[in-house]
Amino acid sequence: DTIFVLNGPNLNLLGTREPQIYGHDTLDDIVGQLEDRARALGLTIDMRQSNHEGHLVDWLHEAQARDAKAAIVNAGAFTHTSIAIHDAVKAIRTPVIEVHLSNPHAREEFRHHSYIGRAARGTIAGFGAHSYMLALEAAARF
Ligand code: DQA
Repeated sequence: DTIFVLNGPNLNLLGTREPQIYGHDTLDDIVGQLEDRARALGLTIDMRQSNHEGHLVDWLHEAQARDAKAAIVNAGAFTHTSIAIHDAVKAIRTPVIEVHLSNPHAREEFRHHSYIGRAARGTIAGFGAHSYMLALEAAARF
């Protein structure tokens, strides 16, 4: 089974982007960690990143078309703005797990509302790169 891991804007800069908030691991480091654990679970990781909202919509549709077991989604700032991604999550049967490195509720007011969280099966936030690993553990049990 395949788990899609979809990352939104600015997450390509992980490792150097505000490391006091997002940590020092790069997206490549995170893929490596996820792939090691996925192998042990008998799962395959399909990891993607885009700075463009529509790519995330297309990839959610693709997750369903390819019969992915789950989609782990860190939509970055689109979390707080994107009705289109919210609707895509609603439109597919594939279970979606929202993840964040930081804990948006402990940050600025404009990060407190999540469109993705309204549609997702559940949310994991605040554990740095480990948030992704916790989401993978949850997805493995679907
Ligand atoms: C983030 C939190 C968002 O508020 C922010 O816009 C990001 C990263 C996180 O993983 O903590 O880009 O999704």
